[in-house]
Amino acid sequence: MTTALVILAAGKGTRMKSDLPKVLHPIAHAPMLVHAMRAGAVLSPERTVVVAGHGADDVRKAVAVEDETAQVVLQEEQLGTAHAVDQAREALTGFSGDVVVLYGDTPFLQPDTLERMVAARATHDLVILGFEAADPARYGRLVMQGDTLERIVEFKDASDEERAITFCNSGLMACDSKTLFSLISEVGNGNAAGEYYLTDIVEIARSRGLKVTAVACDEEQTLGVNSRADLAAADAVFQTRARVELLDLGVTLMAPETVYLAADTVIGRDTVIEPNVVFGPGVTVESGATIRAFSHLEGCHVSQGAVVGPYARLRPGAELAENAKIGNFVEIKNAEIGEGAKVNHLSYVGDASVGAATNIGAGTITCNYDGVMKHRTEIGEKVFIGSNTMLVAPVTLGDGAMTATGTVVTKNVDPDALAVARARQENKPGYARKLFDMLKAKKARQNKGA
Ligand code: UD1
Ligand code: CA
Repeated sequence: MTTALVILAAGKGTRMKSDLPKVLHPIAHAPMLVHAMRAGAVLSPERTVVVAGHGADDVRKAVAVEDETAQVVLQEEQLGTAHAVDQAREALTGFSGDVVVLYGDTPFLQPDTLERMVAARATHDLVILGFEAADPARYGRLVMQGDTLERIVEFKDASDEERAITFCNSGLMACDSKTLFSLISEVGNGNAAGEYYLTDIVEIARSRGLKVTAVACDEEQTLGVNSRADLAAADAVFQTRARVELLDLGVTLMAPETVYLAADTVIGRDTVIEPNVVFGPGVTVESGATIRAFSHLEGCHVSQGAVVGPYARLRPGAELAENAKIGNFVEIKNAEIGEGAKVNHLSYVGDASVGAATNIGAGTITCNYDGVMKHRTEIGEKVFIGSNTMLVAPVTLGDGAMTATGTVVTKNVDPDALAVARARQENKPGYARKLFDMLKAKKARQNKGA
């Protein structure tokens, strides 16, 4: 079956109390609209149309990042869900097949649910997705007659008897494109809210003798986000799912509930993630790596067998080769760390490359920023950087080079050369004793005077 997705995303989301359009609020670092788009992608849609309104420019940008073929249409005034879907009419000219309507603020649809909706279309003209609501609150109620969905009543328009119904409307539906737009043409706004309700097409379809039914899914899948509390709950739902997926793939999570994942986190099997690790966007960890406790990773790649942390920070552009070791209180940014190289303690390595088997001593800093521009530090293979070395970029150190502890490197270092740049040590016999005596005498005089 050929399908097109229409994703409604024009609402303001007043209850979010935000300048950001509701559908762009992130769940696990991806806008909830992108989660909805990914959920819909299982249908391999021929076209995707996002209906934007509030913050349409930002919505357009976010959509383009995820899928540059998706169309974004503008609903200038939010006159209701039927009016919203109607805005996609033009964008779907020439399309024939099914339209599946999704909401941009309903991010958790599971693939099989959409597949079941599409399957039900084989025997019905219009398929609505419903759910048994624990607390039906203000959801639209589905009035069923056996298998047939007779109509949907919005809470505001429902009688007490109808309000007692717990089978509710998720808002999602599937219908042949031509039929859908023809039904929408007949929708009016004579209701309690003065809106064009998409839900009205059920009764219109029934009056035309069309077959309408509802498919049910778990309430969790239709979870809509309307407030920051909902957003936090949605993130929690996402995290639980993503952790289970990783465990199923063969990743060890020592304390799963303390690991925060991003929507695009990729982790290979036999990798061990210790407690309290945070994954920002854009992280890939290959198999057999170890991410130790309290590490923070974003925009980075960790190869097989590498060990990161505890307490390490990998920032965007950190690229660790196989068996590299990044230890405690080390920050890596925009830098390649070669195979088996070690940066074990208290260091900052940014805008740099570190060759294979090189050892970076404790407290080393690549001084990459001069206050205006960023510069690179290139370190060869099998280099030994002494503790507390300052590498003032741009600077290059050849293979097999060494720096003395405390060296401030401002000039390139040739392969196999030793760089020493610090004041030479002088020892003065007995001076320490003399100095102590002098200071103690001074303190005694002061105490007397006081
Ligand atoms: C809608 C349904 C209700 C269902 C509920 C599920 C209608 C009339 N009612 O109610 O039966 O139980 O969803 O959450 O359809 N939107 C637009 N443009 C508009 C209006 C809405 O893009 O003009 C978008 C919103 O941004 C949102 C979605 O459509 O993503 C649903 O709109 P909302 O106003 O939240 O509908 P409800 O009143 O919750
Ligand atoms: Ca809603």
